[in-house]
Amino acid sequence: MQQSHNFCIAPMMEWSDRHCRMLHRFLSRHARLYTEMLTAQAAIRGDRARLMGYDPREHPVALQLGGAEPALLAEAAKIGADFGYDEINLNVGCPSDRVQSGRFGACLMQEPELVADCVAAMRAAVNVPVTVKTRIGVDGQDPQLALRRLIAMCQAAGVTIFIVHARKALLDGLSPKENREVPPLDYGLVYAVKRENPELTIVLNGGIWTLDEAEQHLAQVDGVMLGRAAYQLPAMLAQVDARFFNDAPRAVDEAVDAYADYVAAKLAEGVPLSAMTRHMLGIFHGRPGARRFRRHLSENATRPGAGLEVLRDALAFVTMREELPA
Ligand SMILES: Cc1cc2nc3c(=O)[nH]c(=O)nc-3n(C[C@H](O)[C@H](O)[C@H](O)COP(=O)(O)O)c2cc1C
Repeated sequence: MQQSHNFCIAPMMEWSDRHCRMLHRFLSRHARLYTEMLTAQAAIRGDRARLMGYDPREHPVALQLGGAEPALLAEAAKIGADFGYDEINLNVGCPSDRVQSGRFGACLMQEPELVADCVAAMRAAVNVPVTVKTRIGVDGQDPQLALRRLIAMCQAAGVTIFIVHARKALLDGLSPKENREVPPLDYGLVYAVKRENPELTIVLNGGIWTLDEAEQHLAQVDGVMLGRAAYQLPAMLAQVDARFFNDAPRAVDEAVDAYADYVAAKLAEGVPLSAMTRHMLGIFHGRPGARRFRRHLSENATRPGAGLEVLRDALAFVTMREELPA
């Protein structure tokens, strides 16, 4: 299967864990999935099976790493590639305090030489693509200069795929949530960078809420990455294969049934129900019974010993479930 960055689902801490990614995979065979950020330290020293394990059906799936030390990132990238990840992505966009104190994430935009050293070391350690997810600038930087400089330096180190969250990160005074909403989006700058660098793969991220918007951006850039929309309104993902990958659309209800089978298998391995159902609360958004579905799961899935029947009962509230294809 040809792998592309046409349509990507963003790395999201606490959200895009392996269960979430499976739900998204049942909704789209082709969307490129990203893990939550994992620090290089954790990849090297932590419980790898727990932190990096994934289902083979998740491909294409990228591991996102956080860090700022070339040798550690290289080692972590190698571990990720050995796990079979299709891509290793470096986080140069996260503004949280915890990340800044480790001197990585968005504050790395101020040290493009160091980012270039990091990606060079990572590339030397693996055969899969090493990519960069970045903002357009931080704090007082001029995005016109900062974004181009970062990209040029990483390109000189061999990186050809960039995901750009098209707003600045303000490292002082804004929470991570505000940093996803307050600084204005500048799609024009990302389009311009693509026009200037036709040989690069430029993926646009930030504030894309519908597949129509995604399609409009795709006229200007090589790919789109959706975060909150994909998570909060996952049913839209059922149209992604048809609209962006020249394949058949999926049926939401079929994907939900596949996920229920997955949930049953994971329950048997001891995974708590709510760890899996929490990712599907928005899936019936806009359909009759959606609110009762959501409420039933929220109230019951965390109870000790909650099993598949909680999900089945919740599904029974959703009337007018789609006809499955014959
Ligand atoms: C809950 C949450 C966690 C996030 N965690 C990460 C992360 O681990 N790494 C990262 O690069 N971006 C992270 N982001 C940012 C998203 O990847 C994305 O850049 C941002 O949400 C903008 O895209 P959107 O407007 O489509 O949501 C996170 C966003 C959210 C909502």
